Amino acid sequence: MTEEGKSLEDRQAALDAIAAEVRQCEKCPLHSARTNAVPGAGPVDADIMFIGEAPGFHEDQQGLPFVGASGKYLDQLLALIDLTRADVFITNVVKCRPPGNRDPLSTEIDICMPAYLKRQAEIIEPKIVATLGRFSMALFFPPSARISRIHGQPKRANNRIYYPLYHPAAVLRNPNLRPVMEEDFKRIRDLLDDIEAAGGTIEDEPPPPQQLSLF
Ligand code: URA
Ligand code: SF4
Repeated sequence: MTEEGKSLEDRQAALDAIAAEVRQCEKCPLHSARTNAVPGAGPVDADIMFIGEAPGFHEDQQGLPFVGASGKYLDQLLALIDLTRADVFITNVVKCRPPGNRDPLSTEIDICMPAYLKRQAEIIEPKIVATLGRFSMALFFPPSARISRIHGQPKRANNRIYYPLYHPAAVLRNPNLRPVMEEDFKRIRDLLDDIEAAGGTIEDEPPPPQQLSLF
């Protein structure tokens, strides 16, 4: 069933129910080392969904996404385009912190993503799915895609724009990427304006790209 026609209250309740499931989840081994699961945060009617990789130390402590150094930088980037966290939904591919901040395993992603991220996106129906880093990028772009080549290039499909960005932590580690990241971010404002001018519709690109579309 699509979310079309549902009231904002019903959609919010559905999103809250997913968050409650996430907090109790024991579907994959990441549950055992976590302090708090991190379902994500933001309004159910957000036009943009940002998807990071996995909670880090501070996120695990607080149960909230992007509250450490990467999150502070993300706030600055949002401010560049006159947005705040109250305007966007922010979440991660996996909702529990991998021990020692290791990369999430594909087995963990394969369990968590369809169980939670996919359902969150179905409820929020964001116009723009902005991926932060290569793990979330890999959900929507072919395995051959390299972030250094495709960052900042919107892909239009499913009445949605998939927009790959560097991970804020990568930019903090490599300050040479700052101007690039900031330009990529500013482009989000143009994309939002274009979507609004088109009355909310997004044409697929011609010819339709090879689709690896999970949602
Ligand atoms: N890095 C991520 O990918 N996600 C967070 O929530 C925090 C840091
Ligand atoms: Fe459940 Fe996802 Fe946490 Fe694994 S990472 S325990 S699937 S919420």
